[in-house]
Formats: sequence, C-alpha cells, structure tokens
Amino acid sequence: MEVLIVPTPDDVADLAASVVVDALPTSRPPVLGLATGSSPLGLYRRLGEAAAAGHLRVQDASGVALDEYVGLAGGHPESYRTVLEREVCDVVGLDRARLFVPDGTGADLEALIAAARRHEERIVALGGVDVQILGIGANGHLGFNEPGSALSSRTRVKRLSDRTRADNARFFASPEDVPTHCITQGLGTILSARSLVLVATGAAKATAVAAALEGPLTASCPASVLQWHADAVVVLDEDAAAMLA
Ligand code: F6R
Repeated sequence: MEVLIVPTPDDVADLAASVVVDALPTSRPPVLGLATGSSPLGLYRRLGEAAAAGHLRVQDASGVALDEYVGLAGGHPESYRTVLEREVCDVVGLDRARLFVPDGTGADLEALIAAARRHEERIVALGGVDVQILGIGANGHLGFNEPGSALSSRTRVKRLSDRTRADNARFFASPEDVPTHCITQGLGTILSARSLVLVATGAAKATAVAAALEGPLTASCPASVLQWHADAVVVLDEDAAAMLA
C-alpha cells in the first residue's frame, strides 16, 4: 500500500487523478469502479479534464458503481445511479449506457438478491475492475460495508448503520428519508479490482484513516482491507493524515 500526503483537497484531486490515469489500460476499454460521496468529486472533475485533453480513454470506458440505496425510485436525485450520471457521466464524459449500478428498486428481498448477483456477474463479464475509486466512512466503512462486514464478502443487500444514515442525512429532506438498506459490493469484490485508489480529506476522517492504514486488518474497520491489496494507493490531505503515526 502506498500512502501519499499532500497539503490540500485540491492537491488530493490532482494527484489521485494522475494515479488513476496512469493505472488505467490504454490498449483496451478501461473499467472504472466508482464511489459516490463528496470525497471523489474533485478527482472526477480532474478526470474530465484529462479526458478532454485526450489523456484518458473514456469513449469506450465502463463505470461500475460500488453501491446503491434500496427503495429509491429510478430517477430519484439521490439514487446513486442518478448521482453517478450527474457527477461522473456528465463530468468525465462516460457513456450512460456503460454505467452499471446495482438495481435497488426491487419489490422484495428476492429481487434485490438477484440484482446483487447480477452486479457481480456484470463485473466478471467486463473482465474485472481496473481501478476502483474509494472514499472512507468516518466509521471506517468501505462502500457500504459497515464495521463487522465479512472480509471476503461479495455484492449483497445490507442494512445501513445508524451512523452512516446520520452522515448521509445531509442529502435528504429529513433523516427519516434516508434509506435503511443498500446493495453494496462486498469487501472481497472490492479486493478483486486490479488497483484501488482511496481518497480522504478533512479532520473528520483522520481517526478512520489511522485505523485503516495503521491498525490491525479487521472486520471492525472495513477499510483496513486495503492493507491486504497488492496495488492500493491512498491519497490524503494533511488534515485526514493528522492521526497517522
Ligand atoms: C460511496 C460509498 C461510501 C463513501 C463514504 C465517504 O459510494 O460507498 O463508502 O465513500 O461514505 O463518503 P464521503 O466521501 O461523502 O465522505
């Protein structure tokens, strides 16, 4: 695992974008793993600039979402499909037809379990994820793999923790509107990507970052699985890095 510390969130976006561009294949269509949330927004803007400058093969690239809420109607402004269309397809130039997001609209558990399985199959059919972009939750979650998630887990339906629902309430009209469940790539799915690039900024992430990078590899801190990956790069600003030894 490589840990890169730079002064500001803008520097994180710049450096992480160049790491992602360098890690993506140019001789075949690249497959990008996509996180939502605030952390990668600057990175996506830089990838858009790289694509416009011809430094990123975006015309036939695919994007694979890390996760999706359960129970938001298609087109809901906070569904991760809508968010990724807005913040990645429209910004980076990725074709919406090649954006693959788990379907969280299923009417019952059986339909949602089938949607999770299809997401795994989609990743395999694409030949695997080349670069998985990641953020980290203040509780150490990765994707929506909350503390206690199995280290070898695959894409599945999960209940969101109270902490994560509270953290994400800022995107909804009221805290009760935050979905209670999600479909998320598992930690084992994330570890199957050829390379991982995690970005974190701000003091609120410092404790989770220190636990993930310097604590034990444990289900109690899902992001600690990065220690286990052969090609993981973590890009931090100084505030997020403040509690590293
Ligand atoms: C997003 C995701 C989450 C976020 C994490 C950090 O698809 O799966 O793990 O990466 O909650 O969110 P932000 O970046 O908003 O602090």
